[in-house]
Amino acid sequence: MVNFDELRAQIAQEFKEVETLDVLNELRIQYLGKKGKIADLMKQMKDVAKEEKREFGQAVNQLKAETSALLEEKKKELEAKALEEKLASETIDLTLPGRKPSHGNLNPLHLIEQELEDLFIGLGYQVIEGDEVVDDLYCFERANIPKDHPARDMQDSLYLDPAHLLRTHTTAIQMKVLEEQAPNPIKVVCPGKVYRRDDDDATHSHQFMQMEGLVIGPHVPLSDLKGTLEFFARKMFGQEREIRFRPSFFPFTEPSVEVDVSCHMCGGKGCSTCKGTGWIEILGAGEVNPKVLEMAGYDPNKVNGFAFGIGIERVAMLKYGIDDIRHFYTNDKRFNETFDRMD
Ligand code: PHE
Repeated sequence: MVNFDELRAQIAQEFKEVETLDVLNELRIQYLGKKGKIADLMKQMKDVAKEEKREFGQAVNQLKAETSALLEEKKKELEAKALEEKLASETIDLTLPGRKPSHGNLNPLHLIEQELEDLFIGLGYQVIEGDEVVDDLYCFERANIPKDHPARDMQDSLYLDPAHLLRTHTTAIQMKVLEEQAPNPIKVVCPGKVYRRDDDDATHSHQFMQMEGLVIGPHVPLSDLKGTLEFFARKMFGQEREIRFRPSFFPFTEPSVEVDVSCHMCGGKGCSTCKGTGWIEILGAGEVNPKVLEMAGYDPNKVNGFAFGIGIERVAMLKYGIDDIRHFYTNDKRFNETFDRMD
């Protein structure tokens, strides 16, 4: 005869000891499954004496109901425990500092380029870019630098074929703009990379950046050039700066000048940055040579104008106190981050 009390106690003990839902499921199959122990008891009914069948059946049904209740209860308990553990393992510590996504930075040359563009756009200039591969015609001939001119020696470059080269100065853009706009007035700046045979040292590179300025109209006095460059120098290097013109020579400008700005490091007294002179040379400029105007299709008796060529590396080095031009090209993230304005 089956001892229900013992069985009940055994089931209660086994359910009590279960610690995981997997084991609980095994117990469920063991007792309540189709081929489980309680189903087996039901099958024994046929061997039970007639007068005891009723009692036996009730006992089995009760055992089944109790076991199901135990199962449900344990299941709830274990599920709650599992959820609690999951929540505990996923706790977010709101006091931890956030992780900053790392982003790239603009190279200081681009920062200066943008600053210069803003400055000149503010003065009513348009920004025009040109091709880096140019015809000999626009790089030299139209700039009044004929084939045998000694100025070509200083501007040797990489030739793709005898008529095409990597531009040696942004003056090549200037010549193209002049041809395209003649006979209309012009007010543009043209930034871009240029290539020139040069020593690669702390202040020279075979590739660097310039920004050409060009203004053409019926009456463009040289004093406008001076006022414009003074405005530029003060915006970039401080309101106390002075500029001065020194006579110079460029085949495409007449007269030509070198422009110096009073030293922003020592205020003009003389220091290592300005090599003791109080002045720093920053760019070349001049009145556009009438010959250049004529070649581009202008009537030099009706219009005149000025042009200037700013070295972007030079401005960046002076403004930020960078001592070696090669820093710009090494792609060192730490260097670029120094000039980050996004933080
Ligand atoms: N193209 C000259 C250079 O590269 C600079 C310049 C531009 C001078 C415009 C005068 C006018 O050295």
